[in-house]
Amino acid sequence: MRHNSHDDIAHGKYDAGIDVDDGSWEVYRASKAALNMLARCFYERHKEEGCTILLMHPGWVKTDMGGENAPVDLEASVDGLYGTLAKWHGSGKHAFLDYQGNELPW
Ligand SMILES: NC(=O)c1ccc[n+]([C@@H]2O[C@H](COP(=O)([O-])OP(=O)(O)OC[C@H]3O[C@@H](n4cnc5c(N)ncnc54)[C@H](OP(=O)(O)O)[C@@H]3O)[C@@H](O)[C@H]2O)c1
Repeated sequence: MRHNSHDDIAHGKYDAGIDVDDGSWEVYRASKAALNMLARCFYERHKEEGCTILLMHPGWVKTDMGGENAPVDLEASVDGLYGTLAKWHGSGKHAFLDYQGNELPW
């Protein structure tokens, strides 16, 4: 992965390890936990270079994965993610954000 001081890296993030309900989707959840740790460590190693690392929750979106019952339209999710990215662009910060721009604790 190459970057410079003005690169922003954003990843889709999901609270994979917190609410495990019936324990399904375990490989998917493990992949998101790995992604979270990768981003966290990458930021610690490179924050002095000014990179921005954002973990982003798109909402529960009407996609193939989200299904028809999802409450968020694709357009609303993408618009929100784009606006949030634009706002945090170049900030040099590391955060977990939802598609409405809220900073989420993790
Ligand atoms: N939808 C939600 O409610 C929701 C909530 C939280 C997080 N997310 C995250 O948001 C991201 C996108 O989810 P989505 O809802 O858009 O899922 P999706 O409807 O299942 O779409 C997944 C997309 O990824 C592509 N893809 C899958 N495997 C691939 C591979 N090995 N190489 C290249 N492309 C591949 C698929 O291509 P094809 O169409 O060609 O198969 C498809 O375009 C995921 O990381 C998901 O975890 C989604």
